[in-house]
Amino acid sequence: MRKWDLFFELYESLPRQGPGDNASTRKAFEMIRGLSRRPRILDIGCGNGMQTLELARISGGTVLALDNHQPFLDRLKRDARSAGMGKSIRTVRRSMKAMGFRDGSFDIVWSEGALYQMGFLRGLKRCRRLLKPGGWLAVTEAVRFRNRFPAEVRRFWRDEYPDITTVEANLRKIRTAGFTPAGHFPLPVRAWIAPFYAPMEITVRRLVRKYREDARAQALLETWLAEIDIYRRYSDFFGYEFFIMHRE
Ligand SMILES: C[S@@+](CC[C@H](N)C(=O)[O-])C[C@H]1O[C@@H](n2cnc3c(N)ncnc32)[C@H](O)[C@@H]1O
Repeated sequence: MRKWDLFFELYESLPRQGPGDNASTRKAFEMIRGLSRRPRILDIGCGNGMQTLELARISGGTVLALDNHQPFLDRLKRDARSAGMGKSIRTVRRSMKAMGFRDGSFDIVWSEGALYQMGFLRGLKRCRRLLKPGGWLAVTEAVRFRNRFPAEVRRFWRDEYPDITTVEANLRKIRTAGFTPAGHFPLPVRAWIAPFYAPMEITVRRLVRKYREDARAQALLETWLAEIDIYRRYSDFFGYEFFIMHRE
C-alpha cells in the first residue's frame, strides 16, 4: 500500500478534509460588509467542499471551487447538483500555486485550511492580487495558543508545519500583505471533532482491519490515530484561527 493511496482512501471518505464546520463558515461570512447582491467567490483548496456549499447557500453569489485533487471536485459537483446549486458552484482542478486568474477577479477569496501550502504570507499576497479593490479574504490557519509547547506537541508541529505561529504574528503578516484585519476567532473544538476527527477515527479503525497484513499501512494509520490523540490532549495549546480581512 502506497502512502498517497492510503491517504486518499481515508480523506475521500471524510465529510471534509480539515477542521471546520458550517457554523464557523457562517460566522466568518457575517463579518463581511457591503457585498454586492451576487458576489463572485473563489474557494482555494476546497476539498470536497463542505464550506463551498455553505458559501453558495448564504452568499447568493457564485463560487468557483479550486483544488488539485479531482475526486474531491467530483464529489462536490454531485453534492452541488443534488442540493440544487449546480449553477452557482463551478469547480476547477488547478494548483493554487499557478491559479492563472486575472488580477481583481473576485469579491471574496475563501480558503479553509489550505493557504499554508503556499506559505501563509505568500498566499495572502497572492490572494490580495486576485481581489477587487474593496474585496475580502477569509482564511483559517493553524496557530499556537501558547508560546511554549510540551515536547510531543513540539515534535508533532516540527514535522507537520514548523512555521506555525501565534495569532498576533499572523495578524502582522496580514497587515504586511496589505490587508486590514476585520475580525478573527478560533475554531471551536466541536469543529475539529464532529466533521473531521470523529469520522476520521472510525475510518482509520476500519482501515486498520482492512490492511491488517500490511505493516507499512499499519504504521501510517497509527500516525493518524496519534494526531487525533495529540489534538484531544492538547487543544489548549494549538488550533485553527479564522482570519477575516479587507482589501481597502
Ligand atoms: C486540509 S484540506 C482542506 C479542505 C477544505 N477546505 C476543508 O476545510 O475541508 C487542504 C486542501 O487543499 C488541497 N490542496 C493541497 N495542495 C494544493 C495545491 N497545491 N493546489 C490546490 N489544492 C491543493 C487538498 O487537495 C485539500 O483538498
